[in-house]
Amino acid sequence: MSVSDQPNSPRPLTVGLLGCGIVGSGVVQLLRDNAEDIAARLGASITVGPVAVRTSSRDRPVAVDRLTTDAQEVVDDPDVDIVCEVMGGIEPARSLIASALEQGKPVVTANKELISTLGGQLTELAVANGTRLDYEAAVAGGIPIIRPLRVSLAGDRVRRVLGILNGTTNYILTKMTEEGMDFGTALGEAQRLGYAERDPTADVEGFDAAQKAAIIASLAFDQRVVAGDVYREGITAITDTDIDLARRMGYVIKLLAIVEQRDDGAVGARVHPAMVPVHHPLASVRESFNAAFVEADGVGELMFYGPGAGSLPTASAVVGDLVAVSRTLLSEATPPRGSGPPQAVMAPFDDAVVQFSIRLAVADQPGVLAAVAGLFGEHEVSIKSVLQEGSADHAQLLLITHAARERNVQATLGALRELEVVRGVDSVIRVESSDSG
Ligand SMILES: NC(=O)c1ccc[n+]([C@@H]2O[C@H](COP(=O)([O-])OP(=O)(O)OC[C@H]3O[C@@H](n4cnc5c(N)ncnc54)[C@H](OP(=O)(O)O)[C@@H]3O)[C@@H](O)[C@H]2O)c1
Repeated sequence: MSVSDQPNSPRPLTVGLLGCGIVGSGVVQLLRDNAEDIAARLGASITVGPVAVRTSSRDRPVAVDRLTTDAQEVVDDPDVDIVCEVMGGIEPARSLIASALEQGKPVVTANKELISTLGGQLTELAVANGTRLDYEAAVAGGIPIIRPLRVSLAGDRVRRVLGILNGTTNYILTKMTEEGMDFGTALGEAQRLGYAERDPTADVEGFDAAQKAAIIASLAFDQRVVAGDVYREGITAITDTDIDLARRMGYVIKLLAIVEQRDDGAVGARVHPAMVPVHHPLASVRESFNAAFVEADGVGELMFYGPGAGSLPTASAVVGDLVAVSRTLLSEATPPRGSGPPQAVMAPFDDAVVQFSIRLAVADQPGVLAAVAGLFGEHEVSIKSVLQEGSADHAQLLLITHAARERNVQATLGALRELEVVRGVDSVIRVESSDSG
């Protein structure tokens, strides 16, 4: 006898799906494959109701009984208890989610673009209507990171989260590091395997990671941070020389999303390539995997690791949210009312205290090192180590600084470019370590 056949068992809950692409079809599959387990855990079954798509004639990997091209019809259907938005983009996703929330229907979404820009407003709308908005799959696909930040760590103080939040760039950097590929070849390989879009800009320029960084910062520090608040640099300028020098000094280069809260409460959020010591747990996150390394006062260090995308991994996070929402509906517990988190005070990016690796092409003549070191000293940037290589036309200096203010390092770089013995600043990469200066 199934759970819903038992006397006095709660009625089945119906999910209306907006979208049935990569993620949506995974959601349908998991809800079907795990129906019995879910019903046993929940005490009620969750069934797939109407499903909205753009083109109803398209072949799909899962069979769906009720397909429609009218997404609003799914939201308005009186039999739909929970709306699951997996169509992506800002509109019409935003209007449809707002409409569901205004009707008091809980919404589960995987939409990082929307949540990282309008998540605060939509959460307020959910709260005002006594319902909820959940988005575990919007950050790092299958990795449960939202609920740990929101629930499990609610009694701790998170100081910093370092994330590898984009599988495409991590795959490219892994191939450059381990197989000596150049950027273009590694990108082509990622596209061939379906890890990278034909237009890879959102991934390789760090936009996708910045959206996820904003969502993590908002939850970790309970303040409203949007994608546009996040400082962003991509990986397109990273060369095989950078990778090789980093390796020889005991580092690997990763695209990191870093969010932190200063003692005065201001929030820093940045995405850029960074040199990570080889012994740091993030250095071992390879290929298209994602990870989030959390530093908190009570628990110390935590790392969450797993697949950051893909049909079933992402659907696993979506279905986890659907079960959590169903529990609330069945227990009739009303989510807390309130006004939502305040707008974050963002720390100016040039206030950040960071270590740097700087590679200079220099003249091969006596006194060069002294002149260069003098400029660093004048700008209060102290040098941790120097590697001098090459000769004649190819002399280069690789300097690693102690942690220093971003603005002081930028001023040093400006002055270095004016120095006669410096032929060029070939690369500037931030270094992530526990160095405190
Ligand atoms: N793919 C991943 O691994 C992944 C990981 C984490 C988060 N996400 C997020 O999950 C969401 C969905 O991504 P996806 O990869 O599953 O996208 P997708 O494969 O392109 O699927 C989008 C689905 O939405 C439908 N759709 C689009 N616009 C619509 C409209 N105006 N009305 C009705 N249906 C519409 C499409 O219909 P047709 O099928 O008829 O075209 C399709 O079924 C996005 O927000 C994405 O950022 C994806």
